[in-house]
Amino acid sequence: MASSPLLAVQHVSYQSGSQSILADISLEVQAGECRLITGPSGCGKSTLLKIIGGLLTPDSGTLVLNGRASDAFTPEAWRQAVGYCTQTPALFGDTVYDNLAFPWVLRQKKPDKARLRADLATVNLAEDTLEKSIQSLSGGEKQRVSLIRNLQFLPQVLLLDEITSALDEENKQTVHKLIAGLVKEQHLGVLWVTHDTSELRELGDVITLPARLKEQSEQEGSHESA
Ligand SMILES: Nc1ncnc2c1ncn2[C@@H]1O[C@H](COP(=O)(O)OP(=O)(O)O)[C@@H](O)[C@H]1O
Ligand SMILES: [Mg+2]
Repeated sequence: MASSPLLAVQHVSYQSGSQSILADISLEVQAGECRLITGPSGCGKSTLLKIIGGLLTPDSGTLVLNGRASDAFTPEAWRQAVGYCTQTPALFGDTVYDNLAFPWVLRQKKPDKARLRADLATVNLAEDTLEKSIQSLSGGEKQRVSLIRNLQFLPQVLLLDEITSALDEENKQTVHKLIAGLVKEQHLGVLWVTHDTSELRELGDVITLPARLKEQSEQEGSHESA
């Protein structure tokens, strides 16, 4: 018997101006489950994660976490429950420390620097990375700092948007194993937008989003544009 989902996305649609970006998307993820999301560039994968992460409001449809609709949550409570690693890592402040300390500051706690260094080491980042300026980091280093920031306080659902796109093979494998361990051992629910679906197939099943409706209607003919 299937247990009730950790997160359910129900009939979500989103338009930008007159363009339909997402139409009637429904999916679920359980605790301790990873689902991979793929689809052609521009089909709305990042838009979907922004909606689930609470950064965009859908035109219709519902998000339900542990049986409670998203409108029953404060934005802060939703963001604590649903972590979101963006496609382009959004780091701020001056140093890596500023970024990793931020989730602690939000909770009026003080991070332990030794622990932060140990966390960086789990994604092959050297100890002195903690004091580095974010300006000095490569794209792949930024991706890993962003991931570690999102793991300081484990959310219930973690959204990952192409988070290994700038990583070499070894670092990709490290991140894959880290996420797989969190899914298995901490029962994290993960929605992972990735093009590495064949590599990650063992971790979860694949949801393929369709190409955008506008492009489909263009292929069918231009009767709508008259
Ligand atoms: N802020 C925006 N304003 C207008 N159009 C947007 C915006 N963000 C994304 N889009 C459009 O929405 C579509 C889906 O984008 P996105 O979700 O980033 O796709 P994907 O992540 O699958 O590549 C694209 O065609 C893109 O041009
Ligand atoms: Mg994207």
